[in-house]
Amino acid sequence: MRIYQSEDYTAMSRRAANIISAHVILKPNCVLGLATGSTPIGAYKQLIDWYHKGDLSFSETRSVNLDEYVGLSPHHEQSYRYFMQSNFFDHIDIKPENTHVPDGLAKDPDAACAAYNQLIRDLGGIDLQLLGMGHNGHIGFNEPGNAFELETHQVTLADSTIDANARFFASRDEVPRHAMTMGVKNIMTARKILVVVSGEDKAEIVCKAFRGPVTPEVPASILQLHPDVTVVGDRAALHKLAEAGETLCG
Ligand code: GLP
Repeated sequence: MRIYQSEDYTAMSRRAANIISAHVILKPNCVLGLATGSTPIGAYKQLIDWYHKGDLSFSETRSVNLDEYVGLSPHHEQSYRYFMQSNFFDHIDIKPENTHVPDGLAKDPDAACAAYNQLIRDLGGIDLQLLGMGHNGHIGFNEPGNAFELETHQVTLADSTIDANARFFASRDEVPRHAMTMGVKNIMTARKILVVVSGEDKAEIVCKAFRGPVTPEVPASILQLHPDVTVVGDRAALHKLAEAGETLCG
C-alpha cells in the first residue's frame, strides 16, 4: 500500500486525477470502477479540465460504478446515476453506453445484482477502482459486519450512513434505507485500487482502516490485503496515520 499525502483537498484531487489519467492514457479502453460521495468530486473536476484542454480522452473508456440507492430513478437528483452524469459523464467524451451504474429501479434487485457481476466479468474485470470511505469505514455501501465474500448485493444502510447522507436530501426521512453495492469481493478483484480521503473527520477511521486489524467491522481494512492499493489523502485526513508511525510519500 502506497500512501500519498497532499497538502490540501485541491492537491489531493489533482494527484488522484493524475493517477486516473495515467491509466486512461496508457490503456484508453480501460475499465474504471468509479465512486460517488463528495471526496472524488475534485478529481472529476480536474479530469474534466484536462479533457477540455485536449490532454485526455475517454472515448474508449468503460466505467462501472460502485453503488446506487434502491428506489431512486436515474433522474432523481440524489441518485448516483444523476451524480455521475452531472459531476463527470456529461462533461467528457465517454460513450453513454460504456457507463454503468446499478439500476436503482430494477424490479428484481437480486437479479440486477447478479447481472451486474456478470457485466463486470464480461468487461474483463476492473483495471482501476476508485474508492472513497465512509466515517464507519464503509466502501461502496459495504457496511460494517457485511461479509467480505459478497459480490454485488442489496444492503440495508447503517444508521450512521443515513445520518451522513441526510445532508443531501430534504430530510432524513427521504434518505433511502437500501442500496445495491458492489461487494468487497468485486472491489478486491480490481487490478488496482485508488482510495481518496480528505478532512479531519476521516482521520480516525483512516487510521483504523489502514493500521488496525483486518475485520468486517471496518470494511476498508480488507484493502490492507490487496496487492496494489494507492491511498491519496490530504494532511487533515492522514495526520493520525502519520502520528501512528506510518510512512507517507510526499
Ligand atoms: C457514500 C458512498 C461511498 C462514499 C461515502 C463517503 O456513502 N456510497 O462510496 O465513499 O459516501 O462519502 P464522502 O466522500 O462524501 O465522505
